[in-house]
Amino acid sequence: MSHRIAVVGSNMMDLVTYVGRMPEAGETLDAPAFAMGYGGKGANQAVAAARLGSEVVMVSKVGDDAFADAQLKNFEANGIDTAHVGRTDGASGVATILVEESGENRILIVRGANDRLTPSDIEAAGDALRSAKLILLQMEVPLETIYRTVDFAAEHGIETLVNPAPAVAGLDPARIASATFVVPNETELALLTGLPTGTEAEVETAARSLIARGIKVVIVTLGSRGALLVETSGVHHVRPIEVEPVDTTGAGDAFIGAFAHFYAGGMPLREALARAAVYAGHSITRKGTQSSYLSAKEFEALVAAKV
Ligand code: RIB
Repeated sequence: MSHRIAVVGSNMMDLVTYVGRMPEAGETLDAPAFAMGYGGKGANQAVAAARLGSEVVMVSKVGDDAFADAQLKNFEANGIDTAHVGRTDGASGVATILVEESGENRILIVRGANDRLTPSDIEAAGDALRSAKLILLQMEVPLETIYRTVDFAAEHGIETLVNPAPAVAGLDPARIASATFVVPNETELALLTGLPTGTEAEVETAARSLIARGIKVVIVTLGSRGALLVETSGVHHVRPIEVEPVDTTGAGDAFIGAFAHFYAGGMPLREALARAAVYAGHSITRKGTQSSYLSAKEFEALVAAKV
């Protein structure tokens, strides 16, 4: 079986300002630092999996601006197949990110070209998608494209992982019920199910409501508390690693990309999740999004040092 991973999702140029505190309305503040980097939830997950050694194909859209060429070069530099990264008129996706000293972030996205990834792009990428062991999806492209991909995967017996991030009000759980994995955080889980997620018991109940709809596995990311794996057969707490946070941006994407790599490579589910938690945990000790993701060699050295 192929270990190829396909990502149907976004790419964004991340414009990151590190702040001492958030500005008030109408206030102008000096900020200590700025950095530009490659981001977008889809691209981040693709890059994490590729850096760990997976063969990755990206289905995405860039615009006709300078960021478009930069994004394509970045995919290529990471060994990602760009045959299905299309170009369209107008701006590429951009994210404005503010990161506080605690490492917490606030993100505004302008989807740009990402909003023009259509169901017909999924048909056009059919051969590439059929060769994948696992397809990853997030919510920075149109919902109709996400639904078409989930249906396409079900028609061809390909496993899918749906990451309902960022939280979007219109996502219909019935339309993603054939997904193998759904990976929300607590806020996204609450929005998706209409159930409270304030306590771990509530998180489990909400996750189980998705299992009852047909989704095989729900993995709820809990930030610094790790993650909760919920399956018909039981529940398992994925432990986080203890780190001093510098920048939490893209940690969820690191977790998903790494999980996809290990799972598609044949690792048992719980072990793949434990490894992904280490990979994501390390990413928050570095600034930036993709710039904080380790290569396979660096990751193996990290794991060896922790044993
Ligand atoms: O998940 C982090 C990502 O969200 C950033 O890279 C930003 O581009 C937004 O898509």
